[in-house]
This record gives sequence, structure tokens and C-alpha cells, in this order.
Amino acid sequence: MTTNVERYQRIAPLYDFLDGPFERSRYRPLRPKLFDGLSGQLLDAGIGTGRNCEFYPPEAVVTGIDTSPAMLERARTRCPTLAAGGRLYEMDVTALSFPTASFDAAVSSFLFCVLPDNQQVPALRELGRVVRPGGLIRLLEYVRPSGQLRRAITYIWQPWVAWAYGASYDRHTEERVPEAGLEVVESRFVVDDILKMLTVRAPAHQVA
Ligand SMILES: C[S@@+](CC[C@H](N)C(=O)[O-])C[C@H]1O[C@@H](n2cnc3c(N)ncnc32)[C@H](O)[C@@H]1O
Repeated sequence: MTTNVERYQRIAPLYDFLDGPFERSRYRPLRPKLFDGLSGQLLDAGIGTGRNCEFYPPEAVVTGIDTSPAMLERARTRCPTLAAGGRLYEMDVTALSFPTASFDAAVSSFLFCVLPDNQQVPALRELGRVVRPGGLIRLLEYVRPSGQLRRAITYIWQPWVAWAYGASYDRHTEERVPEAGLEVVESRFVVDDILKMLTVRAPAHQVA
């Protein structure tokens, strides 16, 4: 079975090209909103080719992680500040090597829709562990729309996005948040009923 690391190693050279139309029309206006109200030490989990870098708050110190060396290589070029600061790591979001409470907040765009169902809770738990008590985690993710036409279109896209990106519209990340010991602070659709921005809070006191 193909792993996500293999998938992203394979698609990395084409990733920006294939995503280009969506990036320009849909994602670019949303990326700054990922960082609304966030500052200090931030983690960008599943940084990919570094599409969020342009929108990092100027005063924030951001660290990026990803499991694909080829995607990280592109992030290195697009995010020279992180690269020069040695803050790009090959690391799995379900097993972060950072100490507990290393970050003020974490963001992740289009990572949870590619994480298999059995990694959703471990990934949420890890993000909850590495942000400070009460820290925020902001996610931008695809979900299966309920509108008939859009829903039908996602079923047509499904085989491609699963093969190319390991992605699914049926991850139900929001529903898994309480199981990870975290709390949903805000959940809102930012594109029709297909793209959701979730803000999640780590517990005020870290569970040992
Ligand atoms: C769809 S891309 C999104 C990239 C970027 N965040 C963006 O907004 O364009 C998903 C990224 O998550 C990475 N990824 C997949 N599984 C991961 C894991 N378990 N831990 C960390 N990164 C992972 C992939 O290598 C890929 O770069």
C-alpha cells in the first residue's frame, strides 16, 4: 500500500502546479485568516511547499514540520527565514519531538484531510501537547459537502485526491476533537459547505 510519504515524494515536483488554480482562486485569501489572533512561537504542521509562509505574522517565530523531504525542500526555498533559522523539520505530526508546551499556537492547512482516520486523534493529541496550556490550534480542512451538486462533484474527485494526495472528504476531524482531550472554540465554513476553519483549544492544564 502506498504511504503518504511515498505519495508526497512522488507529487512534490508537480504539487504547486496542480494546486495552482485552487491556490489562486480559493486558498490564498483564506491563508491569512489561519493566523488571526496568533503570535509568538507558532508551529505549521504539514507545511508542504510552504504556501502559508507569506502570511506568517511578522512578529511570530514559526517552525514547520512535514514527513516528506521533497515537500520540505520546496518549503526551504519558499520560506528562507525558516530555512535559515533551522526551523524546518522532517517530523510526523503524530510523534512530534518537541517538548510539551513548546509553542503558543499551531496551524495546519489541508493536513487532517490527508491523515488516515486512525491518525486523527493521535495528531490532535500531539498538537495539543506541544502548544502551551490554553493555546490554540487552527485547522483549514476539506469536508464532504451536504449540497447535492457539490457533494456529487466531491465523489467524482475522490479517486484522484485519494491516489494523488491520500486525501478524503470524510475525516470527521471536528468530531474527534473531544476524544483528543481538546475543545472546539469555533467551527465555520469558509468556502460554501466544503472548506472548514476549525479553532481548537488545548486544556488550560496539560493532562500528564
Ligand atoms: C495537502 S498537503 C498541504 C500542504 C500545506 N499545508 C498547504 O496548505 O499547502 C499535506 C502535507 O502534509 C504532509 N503530511 C502528510 N502526513 C503527515 C504527517 N503524518 N505528519 C506531518 N506531515 C504530513 C504531506 O507531506 C504534505 O506536505
